[in-house]
Amino acid sequence: MRSLIASSVCAVLLLSACGKSADKAASAAKAAPAAQVNEARLLAANEPANVGQWMSHGRDYSEQRFSPLTKVTAANVSQLGLTWFADFDTRRGQESTPVIVDGVLYVTTAWSKLYAYEAKTGKPLWAFDPQVPGEWAVNACCDVVNRGVAAWNGKVYLATIDGRLIAIDAATGKSVWDVSTIEKDKPYAITGAPRIAKGKVLIGQGGSEFEQRGYLSAYDAETGKLDWRWFVVPGNPANGFENKQMEMAAKTWSGEWWKTGGGGAPWDSIVFDPKTNLVYVGTGNGAPWPSEIRAPGGGDHLFLSSIVALKIDTGEYAWHYQTTPNESWDYDNVSQIMTADLPIGGTTRHVLMQAPKNGFFYVLDAASGELLSAEPYVQGINWAKGIDKKTGRPIKNPEANYSKTGKGAFVSPYYGGAHTWQPISFSPNTGFAYIPTTQSSYAFVAAKQDDNPMGQKLSISFAKSAEMSQRPDAPKISIGYLQAFDPVTNKEVWRAPVEGGRSGGAMSTAGGLVFAGNTLNEFAAYKAETGEKLWRTDTQTGALAGPVTYEVDGEQFVAVVGGFRQTGSYWAPNYSRLLVYKLGGTAKLPDVVEFPAQVLNPPAAFGSAEVIKHGEETYGRFCSTCHGGEGRGSSMFPDLRYAGAINSAEAFKTIVLDGALAKNGMVSFAKAIKPEDAEAIRAYVVSKAIYAKEHPPTPRATPARAPAAAVPAPHGG
Ligand code: HEC
Repeated sequence: MRSLIASSVCAVLLLSACGKSADKAASAAKAAPAAQVNEARLLAANEPANVGQWMSHGRDYSEQRFSPLTKVTAANVSQLGLTWFADFDTRRGQESTPVIVDGVLYVTTAWSKLYAYEAKTGKPLWAFDPQVPGEWAVNACCDVVNRGVAAWNGKVYLATIDGRLIAIDAATGKSVWDVSTIEKDKPYAITGAPRIAKGKVLIGQGGSEFEQRGYLSAYDAETGKLDWRWFVVPGNPANGFENKQMEMAAKTWSGEWWKTGGGGAPWDSIVFDPKTNLVYVGTGNGAPWPSEIRAPGGGDHLFLSSIVALKIDTGEYAWHYQTTPNESWDYDNVSQIMTADLPIGGTTRHVLMQAPKNGFFYVLDAASGELLSAEPYVQGINWAKGIDKKTGRPIKNPEANYSKTGKGAFVSPYYGGAHTWQPISFSPNTGFAYIPTTQSSYAFVAAKQDDNPMGQKLSISFAKSAEMSQRPDAPKISIGYLQAFDPVTNKEVWRAPVEGGRSGGAMSTAGGLVFAGNTLNEFAAYKAETGEKLWRTDTQTGALAGPVTYEVDGEQFVAVVGGFRQTGSYWAPNYSRLLVYKLGGTAKLPDVVEFPAQVLNPPAAFGSAEVIKHGEETYGRFCSTCHGGEGRGSSMFPDLRYAGAINSAEAFKTIVLDGALAKNGMVSFAKAIKPEDAEAIRAYVVSKAIYAKEHPPTPRATPARAPAAAVPAPHGG
C-alpha cells in the first residue's frame, strides 16, 4: 500500500524555485519577438524550417497531431528520460496541449491560467492569470479545465472558463484585449482551445446542459471585434431566425425547445481547411438528454451532434453531416476532426476524419460532406446497428430510445462516449488513426423535466440508473484501450489495453512512434505499426492530455501535461504538472512518501428511508457532477463520505447553503435547495459512509492529499 505523493524534497524545491512571483518572472522576460505564427508559416509546418515547432493546437491545420521529427525512434526511445517538469498551482484537472514556437512553450492549466517557459530548460518566462471567479466553476459540467492556446502574429489567445477570449502579448505575457464571448451571467463555460485562420480567432463554448444554445464565434485577431457568429440550434421562432439554416433546423424540432436551450454547444473541435476555405466545427449533444423531454415527437434536432462546415470569411453555412439524429445519450459530436488525403476507391480523396462519442469512425469528403465511410471503431455499440451508406443515417435500435419507450435501457457507448475530447492522431506514414477508446455501457433512465435552477438539467435519474446497474443482466464492461484504426479499410489494426484505466490523448511521429499517457500514472511510447509498448515512465499522476514533440538546438523533446486521476473509491492525489522528456534526460520526479489514510468517521445514521431516497435524488441532481456518484469523490473533489462536515447539520449547511467555500468553486446551492434538502443529502451521504465503513474495499493505494505548489516551478536538468 504505497501512495504516490510528493516528498519533502519536492517541498524544498518548490519553496526555492516557486518562491519567485509570476510578476518578477514576467519583468525578467525579454521582449524579443515571440509567437511569430501566420498562415504562410502554418502552411509550411512540415517544411524543414518548421518541423521542430508545434505552432497550433493540433500542430498544423490538418490537426493530425503528427510530427515529422525523427530523432526519437523505436531504436532509441528506451533512452528517453525526464529533462524538466513544472508543477502547477492547482490540483484540478489538466487537459492542455502545449504550443511551442521558436523555443517558447505555452501551456494552460485549470482555472484558465497560462504559462510561458523556455522550452529547452523549463525556465519560466511569464505567467498570466485571467482571475476567473471561483464561483463560475459551478457552470462547468466537467471541471475548470482548459485545453490550450492559439498563437498568431506575436500574440497568444486564451479562452477562459467564464466565457472570455483574451489576446496576450506573447513576449511579455500582458493582456492586449479581453472580450466576453457570452451574454452576461449566462452559465456558459469555455474549456476549449481557440483556433486561428485568416486573421480570425474561432471559439465555441460549453453550456448545453445549463439550458444554453451553442454557437461558434469568429473574432478579429488584432482588435477582438466580433466578426461573425453561427448558432448551432434554432432559437425561439417568435424572435425570427438568424439565417435560413436556423429556419430549416427549426422544422426538425417540436414543442417549445428554446425554453430549455436545446444545446449543441461546440466545446472542442474546430478545424480550418486551407484547401476548401471551410471551418469545420463539431457540435454538442442535446439537452436535456432524453430527446422526448427536449422536444417530443421525434425529429432530427438539427444541428445537434453534427459536423458543420462554414465559410471562413463570412460564417455562412456550407454543409452539415449529423452523426446522431434525435440524440439522447449525451453523444456530443465535438471530438477532434482531422483533415487528410486518403487513397479511397482508387483515387486520392481530401477528407475529414472523426471518432466521436457514438462509436463510429466517420470519413467525409471535406468539400461536400459526402459520407465515404462510417464503421464502428469499438465493439458492443447498441444504440444503432450501423450507418446506412445510402442515406447516411444510423439504423437505430428502438429499444435504446429510453425516452420514447419509457423504460430504462443499457446503452453502449456510455454517456462518456467510445472516445471524447482526448486528442487522436493520424500518421500519414502508417496510414492509421490512433484513438484512446473506452468500451462501456450505461443504464439510461429518463426522469421528469428537470427544473434545477442551477447546475445541470439532464432529466436523467441517477438513482434509478444505479438501481438498474445492480441487475444481473447489467453489462459489466468498462475497458480502456489505445487503438490503431485504418480509415481506408475501416479495420482495427491493433489495440493496447489500459487495464483498469483509460488511455490519454495520442501523438504520432515520423520516428515510427505513438505517445500516449493514461489514468494509471503512466506515459508510454508504442510502435506505430504494431502497438508494441517500447517505453514507459511513471508520471505519478494520470495524463490524459495530448502529448506534443518539438526540437530546440538539435534535440527532440516530448512533452505531456499530467493531472487527472481516475475516479476511485478514495480521495486520490492529483498532481498537476507539465512533464518534458528527451533522450538521455536525467531529471527525477520527487520521491513519493506515504500519507496516512483518510478515515471514515460518520455519525450515527439518521433520516427515514424516504428522506435518504430524497437525499440521493437531490445529490444526483446537484452534487454528483463534481463529487461523483454515490457520494464518492474523484481525484479533484472531496469525497463527501470522508468530510468532517457530514458530522454536523450546521457545518454542512454553512458550506452547502451559505457558500463558505465559494471562492474555491463550492458555491452556495441556496437558490436550488432548501435546508431540509441539504439535511436529506447529508443523511444520504452519511448512509453511504456507514456502508463504506462496514464494507471496506480491497486495499489499494493509500489515499492522500497532494500538496499543491504555490507557483509553477521548473525542476530538473
Ligand atoms: C461545480 C462543482 C461542485 C458541485 C456541483 C458541488 N460541489 Fe461541493 N465542493 C466542490 C469543491 C471544489 C469543493 C472543495 C472546496 C475547497 O477545497 O475549499 C467542495 C467541497 C464540499 C464540501 C466540503 C468537503 C470537505 O472535505 O470538507 C461539502 C460538504 C460539499 N462540497 C457538499 C456539496 C453538496 C451537498 C453539493 C450538492 C448540493 C455539492 N457539494 C456540489 C465542488 C462542487
